[in-house]
Parts: sequence; C-alpha cells; structure tokens
Amino acid sequence: MTVSLDDLPIRDDLRGQKPYGAPQVPLPIALNVNENTHPIPADVAEDIADSVARAITGLNRYPDREFTELRESFAAYLGHNLSAEQIWAGNGSNEVLQHLLQAFAGPGRTAFGFAPTYSMYSLLARGVGSEWIAGTRGARFEITPDDAARQVREADPDVIFLCSPNNPTGTPMSLDVIEAVYEASRGIVIVDEAYHEFASADTPSALTLLPGRERLVISRTMSKAFAFAGARVGYLAADPAVVDALRLVRLPYHLSAVTQAAATAALRHSETMLRTVAEIVEQRDRISATLAALGYDPYESGSNFVLFGGVADPHETWRRLCDQGVLIRDIGIPGHLRVSAGTEEETTAFLDALARLRDE
Ligand SMILES: Cc1ncc(COP(=O)(O)O)c(C=O)c1O
Repeated sequence: MTVSLDDLPIRDDLRGQKPYGAPQVPLPIALNVNENTHPIPADVAEDIADSVARAITGLNRYPDREFTELRESFAAYLGHNLSAEQIWAGNGSNEVLQHLLQAFAGPGRTAFGFAPTYSMYSLLARGVGSEWIAGTRGARFEITPDDAARQVREADPDVIFLCSPNNPTGTPMSLDVIEAVYEASRGIVIVDEAYHEFASADTPSALTLLPGRERLVISRTMSKAFAFAGARVGYLAADPAVVDALRLVRLPYHLSAVTQAAATAALRHSETMLRTVAEIVEQRDRISATLAALGYDPYESGSNFVLFGGVADPHETWRRLCDQGVLIRDIGIPGHLRVSAGTEEETTAFLDALARLRDE
C-alpha cells in the first residue's frame, strides 16, 4: 500500500498544500525561472575555483558563523555607506526571507503581499505557521501609494513583502509606494529587489530609504543578474538590530565554507559578472516589442522577464513550445504566460517557436 501525506501525522495547516513547483524539464532552451542564462566567464570561474579549492583543505572545521568577509564584500558591493553589521546572507534569498518570517512572523501572525507576486512568499509564510494575506493590484498590476497604504492599514500585517520589480508581472515599483507602505504599517517591510539590476538606470534602490527606517529590509540575490543561481546565495541590508534578530533563528554555520569562498570570490569580479545585464535588458525589450507585433499583450517590465497576456490557452501554448524544445512558465494567471530573456540565440529560438505556433 502506498502511503500519502494524508496518512502521516503532518501539521493540519500543511494538509492539502502544494510545494513550490516550477517544472524542471531538461529542454535545450530554458527560459522559465528567470535565471541569467549566460555561463560564468572562464577566467572568473577559474578564480572562484581557486578560492573554493583553498577552502576545501579547511573543511574539517566549521565555517565562520558570521561570514564576516562575505558580509564586508556585500556592504562594499551595495555602497550606500552600508557596513557589514547591516548585512545578512543565506542559501538563496529564499532562506533570507525565511529567516525574516521566522523572526518577525510565525504562528498567530500575518504576512502580506500584493498578488500576483512571487509564489514563495505565501509558501514561506505558511511554512512558519503564519496566515498569508493577499492584497490587490490595478488592471496592469500596478500599485499606487494611496491604495497600497489603505490596504496595508486595513490588513495590519506583521510582515509585508514588496517585490520591486514584481515577479511574475515585471511591474516596477516607485519609492513613493514603499514610503507610503512604511508609514501605514507597524510590521517589517521587506523590499525584494531580486531583479533590481535589470531596472532602468534611473530607478533608485530602496536602499536610499534605509537610514532612519528600522523596520525596512532590502533583500537581494546573486541568482539573477549575478548569474550565480546554482551557488544559492541571497542577502539583505537592514538596521543592525534586524540582523541581530535573524541570528536567533538561523541554524549555526548555515553558510558553508564552500559557499562563502565562492560568493566572496564572485563578488571580486562583480563588474564582469554583471556585464551581461545590458544584453539581457536588450533581449527583454526585443521580446516585448516582438510579442506586441505578434498580437500578444506584454506588460511593462523592469526585470529580466516578460509577462504577456492574450494567450487563448496558456497550458496548450506552453506544451507546444516544450515540443519545440523551449521551456517558459505558465504561472497560473488565466490568459498569460511568462518568459525570461535569454541570450540573443535563445530569445530568437523562443520568438521563432511562438511565431510558428501562430502560423500553424
Ligand atoms: C522575487 C524573487 N525573490 C526571491 C527569489 C529567490 O531567489 P534565490 O533564492 O535564488 O535567491 C526569486 C526567485 O525566482 C524571486 O523571483
């Protein structure tokens, strides 16, 4: 007899829940999880490998629990006069977000975000026993400061997620919205800037709002623009007191010596690692223009992906693109699909495959 989850003494609030599940299908053109599809340049890879090799002889010992050198490197990389005491990091920004929820949400508390937004927020919130509250967006998924403040005041959450720019819609977020939400709330306000590097050059980071706002947290990741998703490194900047709170919930030595060595080495090459951003933005804009010309409805994007509407049967289109070796994402918004910008060749493969579907 096969055992199912329902046969186990699992927590009642986890019964019936679905795990995070972007399909991992081995297709030649994978544009489904907003990675940077450009491989790491060989000379950088070599330097990272040297650093990792040096760390390996010391693996008999636990790593630096405070990952001091890495925090110093992140502070220097982010600028804005940040110091290492204001930096925290984890195995992907998912873990950083989980630490925040463990410390500031938890059973009997609430977490809030403007739907549709990054699907892990609600899963992480439920994972720590918190209730997830979904706010709403306008017709093009935009948020205005007044409406955002009203919704947040009404929900009165313990933790608020502002995804800037938003995944899966690509919608940019202005600093006025963040300021208005901060003023209207009493909880921790997390601005998730996972895709910030792809926003237009004149888009200020929420890091500019940090001084004097002890409940504000800006989360970033090395998984997107930085082309380091496989290494699993995310980080945040906040008041040192917030960072102290996270020490209460993290597992000791949560960042391995190998991860610390690899990330610190990659940050030494940040200029090279980020060199592909301009090309990705160019491909993103090409996707939007071509989708519009094909009669689809692409949304404004400040990230490395495009959400587009006007898809009669998203699942069927997704499946037929798979048949042509192209993997994109059906994020479950009726009539919509999402595609990440790849290299010029990958982007061409997607656009050509989609055009072929229309012509069939
Ligand atoms: C908005 C947003 N935040 C966070 C993450 C998590 O990234 P990671 O855990 O790889 O840092 C993602 C990944 O897709 C994302 O889209």
